[in-house]
Amino acid sequence: MTVTAELRWDPFDVDIDTDPYDIWRRLRDEAPVYRNDDYDFWALSRYADVQAASRDPVTFSSARGTVLELMGEDMSSTGMIIFIDPPEHDRLRALVSRAFTPRRMSALEDRVRIICREHLDPRVGSSGFDYLADFGAQLPSKVISALLGVPASDQPHVLHLIDTMFHIEPGVGMVNDIAVRAQLELHEYISSQVEDRRSHPRDDLFTGLVEAELPDQSGTMRRLTVKEAADFGNLLVAAGTETVARLLGWAAVVLAAHPDQRAALVGEPALIPNAVEELLRYEAPSPVQGRTTTRPVTLHDTEIPVDAKVLLLTGSAGRDERAYPEPDRFDVRRRFEQHVSFGVGAHYCLGAALARLEGRIALEETLARFPTWEVDHARAERLHTSTVRGYQAVPILV
Ligand code: HEM
Repeated sequence: MTVTAELRWDPFDVDIDTDPYDIWRRLRDEAPVYRNDDYDFWALSRYADVQAASRDPVTFSSARGTVLELMGEDMSSTGMIIFIDPPEHDRLRALVSRAFTPRRMSALEDRVRIICREHLDPRVGSSGFDYLADFGAQLPSKVISALLGVPASDQPHVLHLIDTMFHIEPGVGMVNDIAVRAQLELHEYISSQVEDRRSHPRDDLFTGLVEAELPDQSGTMRRLTVKEAADFGNLLVAAGTETVARLLGWAAVVLAAHPDQRAALVGEPALIPNAVEELLRYEAPSPVQGRTTTRPVTLHDTEIPVDAKVLLLTGSAGRDERAYPEPDRFDVRRRFEQHVSFGVGAHYCLGAALARLEGRIALEETLARFPTWEVDHARAERLHTSTVRGYQAVPILV
């Protein structure tokens, strides 16, 4: 007789977060509309369901938050685009997109490469280094501050604030006094920079944010308020730092575990952009997006009531055998149309182009210097937060 273990997915369970693949597969097969009474949420784990729910923001709303333990109250008044539903979302998105131009992104390419070189060159000839602490975790905050237009003299202070924003207090987690104080201080700093650009415009994102205009609902031209621009600056830091660091941590670990795939990239660097997509599919840095239903929804013969918390398991969707043949095989040559690791629909990651740029250049510069490495797993450290999944320390031997 086969006894099947009880199917339980607990988003706060560190062991499950470390090795979720079997449970994700069972959720997809046995409970595609999974109910967790302990934490009062539902979870969708199949690629098609995650995609469909993301494309229906009227039914699956972001307004009451997207991170399980912070969901409940209406958060759209925080002004954060990620918590605002259409149609207001679309107006705000069009407005901030004016500042977040492809030209500004591609202008960053040289800067990203210089930052990579500054971190990686000193490691050549060494026996090893921590790929995250010494490189991968520093690149994204330097890139975001360059993107925003933080003056060089303020950079050390701003980089320190960004670092402190992600401080995790043992037993308390991400929402702790030290992190919250750093967030407030960063918000004040960004507000002062935005204020400054009104009278002293420059070619930077701060200036783009105060200058962008769009007609509002009544047809009147509207600009962002200082608070809105600063909220958006803070969101960029929050959304674009931790995620990219996790992507680079996964790159170091997954490529070391698949030396043939890594060798393929060394031999044929043109494969690197596709390898970045495959990495995102294979190990989604941001594996869970929360939503709240605005009406009852029936899916796979199960009714999810109105006002229910629904978690979209992006990480599981990337491993769905219904969407990807042999999903547990990591293959830098895999061809697929889409993954959902940057989200889908209205809230599709605004920084996707920048994240791809950072991932590609980081890998190009890494593989050009270090064609092989091993991960010192005894000293590698995982990071368990409610928003990202991956490593915080990846010591490598080169
Ligand atoms: C590998 C890196 C990244 C991953 C995996 C990632 C993932 C995501 C995901 C899954 C969403 C959708 C959230 C939802 O549906 O609720 C999202 C939204 C967003 N991301 Fe990213 N992201 C990354 C990098 C970045 C970067 C570098 C930036 C900024 C520079 C950024 C800015 C944003 C913003 C502003 C949104 C909200 C968009 C909206 O609500 O319209 N992200 N990201």
